Amino acid sequence: MRSDLLGLSRRAALIAGLACLAFPAMAQEASKKIRIGVIGSGNIGGTIGSLWVKDGHEVMFSSRHPETLKALIEALGSKAKAGTPEEAIAFGDAVLVAVPYKAYPELSTSYAAALKGKVVLDAGNATKARDGELYDEVQANGIGATSEKYFPGARLVRAFNAANYKVFAKEGANGGADRAGGRMAIPIAGDDASALKVAEGLVHDAGFDPVVVGGLKDASKFAMGSPGFGHEKTAPELRKTLGLTP
Ligand SMILES: NC(=O)c1ccc[n+]([C@@H]2O[C@H](COP(=O)([O-])OP(=O)(O)OC[C@H]3O[C@@H](n4cnc5c(N)ncnc54)[C@H](OP(=O)(O)O)[C@@H]3O)[C@@H](O)[C@H]2O)c1
Repeated sequence: MRSDLLGLSRRAALIAGLACLAFPAMAQEASKKIRIGVIGSGNIGGTIGSLWVKDGHEVMFSSRHPETLKALIEALGSKAKAGTPEEAIAFGDAVLVAVPYKAYPELSTSYAAALKGKVVLDAGNATKARDGELYDEVQANGIGATSEKYFPGARLVRAFNAANYKVFAKEGANGGADRAGGRMAIPIAGDDASALKVAEGLVHDAGFDPVVVGGLKDASKFAMGSPGFGHEKTAPELRKTLGLTP
């Protein structure tokens, strides 16, 4: 009960934060709108999913307690829906995974089969304090390979992991259009070329410029604690930091 209440108060704070975002009446560029499922509708899932809704995508936010998402859904309007993780996976042409990394083994048991063949944007980071053994596994094998182990057969793209959700909320507002010097860059990495294309479109639609860093093994270059993590740089600046060709 206490954790439910805590979850509710955090969600109320998130909704209040999202209400401060200003959005454009139309996306900067016409793009195909798709259905997106969000697993973990907390700080990251709530923030990025809301940016997509404001751009015109249909988003099903999910929770193990979908009733707690009522206020978020109502604030976002008819393109936002609430469901269970199973329903969000079935709903989404693409799925954003935004849960604590220590939950990946449980998620794998419950949902890996359903995620097979889906475009999955993976925002999870492993931290020593929170994620314990999973942190050790990521340190040993790399974040890309570790996520791939838990979601085998998913068309995995690492994305939206390299900055704080408050930065995403601020910089993604107004489609990223008001940012002096250009939109903020989001590093992404994946082994499936067509999934990377989908992810590039979704990064754009959230108000950012995508920078493809490489395959899943290259996700380590912008993992927590790496040189590519924690920037609010433009795409040319981030490419320079990561030694990528302009
Ligand atoms: N916070 C940031 O600024 C930030 C930035 C970049 C990346 N990340 C990464 O993104 C992930 C999410 O972070 P967050 O800050 O958004 O966390 P959060 O606010 O705590 O939200 C995580 C959500 O995950 C869901 N969840 C937890 N365990 C689950 C399970 N076993 N199965 C299904 N859903 C589960 C919870 O939803 P229900 O309880 O409602 O089911 C919760 O709302 C983490 O890996 C984090 O490292 C966070």
